[in-house]
Amino acid sequence: MKANFRNGIPRMKKRVLSGVQPSGHLHIGNYLGALKSWVKVQHGYESNFCIVDLHAITVYQDPAELRAKIEEVAALFLASGIDPDISSIFVQSSVAEHAELAWMLTCVTPVGWLQRMTQFKAKSEAQETIGDGLLQYPVLMAADILLYQAAIVPVGEDQSQHLELTRDIAQRFNSLYGDTFTVPATHLPSSGARVMGLDDPETKMSKSAPGAGHAVGLLDPPEVARKKIMRATTDSQPAVNFESLGAGVANLIEIARAFEEWTEERARAEFDGRRYGELKKRVADVVIAHLEPLQRRYREIVGEPGYLTGVLRDGAERVRPVAASTVQLAKARMGLYV
Ligand code: TYM
Repeated sequence: MKANFRNGIPRMKKRVLSGVQPSGHLHIGNYLGALKSWVKVQHGYESNFCIVDLHAITVYQDPAELRAKIEEVAALFLASGIDPDISSIFVQSSVAEHAELAWMLTCVTPVGWLQRMTQFKAKSEAQETIGDGLLQYPVLMAADILLYQAAIVPVGEDQSQHLELTRDIAQRFNSLYGDTFTVPATHLPSSGARVMGLDDPETKMSKSAPGAGHAVGLLDPPEVARKKIMRATTDSQPAVNFESLGAGVANLIEIARAFEEWTEERARAEFDGRRYGELKKRVADVVIAHLEPLQRRYREIVGEPGYLTGVLRDGAERVRPVAASTVQLAKARMGLYV
């Protein structure tokens, strides 16, 4: 690949940055919306994948649980197929420049842009007191991305609005202070970009939703995953009819399609006319077939003392020089003392 130059620094490959909050147990929505695309893009891009613990603390986290979840998420990145020899996996709070750049970006972001974010509105409704961090959340996310001059950001559909804001912030900074940041593109998967809750197909599958039958966790034992899928909400029709798919049935088909990378025709051939009980059984088989090897790798990773710590330390060391050079550049552009 030809080297490209940005701000005088030669680069062989374009960069990718994405992240996951260690705020709950990861589910198949996180895998299909994000991790699965990361595994693919890592071969064509210089890839950075981040466990965004500073984002997680925008709502209260039990300290001991947060620590355990950071490690669980890191191990799940590896178990999903992120290769630490070609991608950098690191914890956001280990690279101080994330918070430093976030402050500079906060100062160019109109508060009205932040108050319009649908995730801010939804999350703040659920809180008694709203921490300022919840409002600043998307600015920190913009800092994560712009710090690495990422060209693409592979995420699920729920992050699209945050990505638009990131582009707006980058453009505003660039126009105020001169060309500094790459304006990143959103990269959505062709299927599985928005996996819905099994118990309520009108709401997005989420780490924090309370219902026991809401999400299939990446670490759910096969019999638990099967039970959740067999109990998924469908509708009053007896069998799959592609001409009028209810939301619950469409979601189950989308899950199988996304795991197997089936075309629409293939999904029709698999499911059209199947009774709902058969559909669920087949979807459960597909999900379990993909989770079993992932869980095996997870157990190997957490069973190897020191391995995970080493991956996270190496990842942070690898990304730090890039983060530092972007902060230097942004400071110089703003006239801060460098
Ligand atoms: P988070 O932790 O909520 O989710 C991690 C990734 O999983 C995707 N995702 C889904 N995809 C499909 N269906 C679903 N039901 C589903 N639920 C979650 C998300 O879109 C995301 O890609 N703000 C981010 C974390 C973040 C970040 C970043 C992402 C912080 N900095 C920089 C990208 C780049 C978040 O809360 O993701």
